Amino acid sequence: MSDIQKKNAGEAAAAYIEPGMVVGLGTGSTAAWFVKALAARNLEGLRCVPTSERTADLARELGLTLSTLEDTPRLDVTVDGADEIGPDLALIKGGGAALLREKLVWEASSRCLCIADAAKVVPTLGAFRLPIEVVAFGHKTTAARINAVLAAHDIGEATVRQADRGLVRTDGGNLIYDAAPGIIANPVQLAADLKAITGVVEHGLFLGLTTLAIVGQDEGVEILEG
Ligand code: 5RP
Repeated sequence: MSDIQKKNAGEAAAAYIEPGMVVGLGTGSTAAWFVKALAARNLEGLRCVPTSERTADLARELGLTLSTLEDTPRLDVTVDGADEIGPDLALIKGGGAALLREKLVWEASSRCLCIADAAKVVPTLGAFRLPIEVVAFGHKTTAARINAVLAAHDIGEATVRQADRGLVRTDGGNLIYDAAPGIIANPVQLAADLKAITGVVEHGLFLGLTTLAIVGQDEGVEILEG
């Protein structure tokens, strides 16, 4: 993990934004660099839709104009980080527990730019624990079903994400289960199998949602196109 690489990626992404655009703001340390660089550009007429309360606080502090998905249901572009960038720009996201709002905003955007440091680019998805957002009611029952699906995909058990003061809650009040690290050989099928479980709200596989990744290097960026 390199902060200079994250900064380079975030700053490069800010150059893609034009005045008057509706822009989705991702969540995480790389997205925070983008938010800072975007605010510094001081573009006219921007409206920004944040993907988390954390990002909303930062954007507000920096003077960006905020909107919501309700008020601006279509976005021109979203810029967001990733935990893993695999083949065909298939992504794992949700390390920051914002995957549901992130996916809603990504899917409402004409274009999504993924920004990351170079360590996030991997030959196969799965070494980063796949986050799965689950409704708190009956979550242990849901987890048993999740684990059956993961076992069928040769992936180890998911465990509930803990923080110092108890279970991690998402901005929507849900819980996060993280699958054990493994090899996700068939992300499309795994995504479908997880989505079919009642109680699973969303998972961190972002498939076919971006065609451009801006990968920060120690100097400059590398562009990956899918
Ligand atoms: C939050 C995310 C983040 O984009 C992802 O965890 C990457 O974070 P960072 O830029 O801090 O490495 O998906 O839910």
